[in-house]
Amino acid sequence: MISGHTKTLVILADPVAHVRTPEALNARMSEAGIDAVMVPAEVAPGDLAATVEGLRSIRNLAGLVVTVPHKTAMPALCDSLSQRAEIASSVNVVRRGADGRLHGDLLDGEGFMRGLSSTGTEISGKRIFLAGAGGAASAIAFSLAARGPACLTVANRSRAKAQDLVTRLTRAFPGLEAAVGDGPTGHDLAINGTSLGLKPEDPLPFEPAELLAGATVAEVIMQPETTALLDRAQELGLGTHAGRHMLDGQLAEMMDFLLTSGDPQI
Ligand SMILES: NC(=O)c1ccc[n+]([C@@H]2O[C@H](COP(=O)([O-])OP(=O)(O)OC[C@H]3O[C@@H](n4cnc5c(N)ncnc54)[C@H](OP(=O)(O)O)[C@@H]3O)[C@@H](O)[C@H]2O)c1
Repeated sequence: MISGHTKTLVILADPVAHVRTPEALNARMSEAGIDAVMVPAEVAPGDLAATVEGLRSIRNLAGLVVTVPHKTAMPALCDSLSQRAEIASSVNVVRRGADGRLHGDLLDGEGFMRGLSSTGTEISGKRIFLAGAGGAASAIAFSLAARGPACLTVANRSRAKAQDLVTRLTRAFPGLEAAVGDGPTGHDLAINGTSLGLKPEDPLPFEPAELLAGATVAEVIMQPETTALLDRAQELGLGTHAGRHMLDGQLAEMMDFLLTSGDPQI
C-alpha cells in the first residue's frame, strides 16, 4: 500500500511503455517488504534537464533509474559520479542524498557480474572474449577488467570502437592484458555484448566452435531467452548463460544502490 511514508523511485525513458523495470522492481520490493514504489515517467530528451531539476527537490525521492535515450545525457545532470560512470560517460541509476545532491552510477556491468556469480561462473584467471563495444559491452568490459581475467579480447563490427574501448580499459587498469581481436579462438568465456540475436535473422556474433573445450557462452540478449548463439553453444556441449541473469543482477544492484543509504560507491 502506498502511503505518505513510501519512498518514490522514478524511471525516466522515452518511450517508457515497453520498459519492464517498474513491474519487476515493484514486485521485488513488495516481496522484500520494502516501502517504496517505482513509477514510469516518459520524458523527451529536450525536457530531461528540467525534469531532473524538478525531481531533485522531492524529499521522499530515493532516486532515479535512467534508460534509453537518456543514459549519456545524465552524467552532466548529476552532482557526483562513480568512477565507472565517469569513464563510460553514462549513468543508469541516480541516488538522491538527503541534501538533494544527485549521485550517478552505471550498474549494467555489475549487474552482469552479479548474474555470472549467481550461476557460479568465475572471472579471475579466465581468457575472456567479448563481442561488442557499445554501452552494455563497455560497462561489462570495465567490470570484467576489475576482476582480474587472464586476458580480455574485444571484437566489434566498428573496429575503431573496440580499439577505443581497449585503450580506455588499459589506461584504467594498467596491468590488464587486453587486445582487439576477431574471434574467440583459445578463450574459455565468450560474451555476446552486441544486439545481435534480438532478431531471428541475425547472424551469430561469433562462432562458439572456436572456443576451448568446456568454455561458457554468455548473452546480454534477454528476448528471446534462448538465442541462436546459446543453442549453438549447447549443441557443442559448452556451458551457457542467458541474458535474463544480467537483468536479475541489475535489479538486485539497483535495490542495493537506491534503497541502501551510505557513501557513494565507486
Ligand atoms: N540483459 C540485460 O539486462 C541488458 C542490459 C542492457 C542491454 N542489454 C542488451 O544489450 C544489447 C546492446 O545494448 P547497448 O545498449 O550496448 O547498444 P549499443 O550501445 O547500441 O551497442 C550495440 C552493439 O551491437 C553491435 N551491433 C549492432 N548491430 C550489429 C550488426 N548488425 N552486426 C554486428 N554488430 C552489431 C554494435 O556494433 P557497432 O559499434 O559496430 O555499431 C555495438 O557493439 C541490446 O540488445 C540490449 O537489449 C541487455
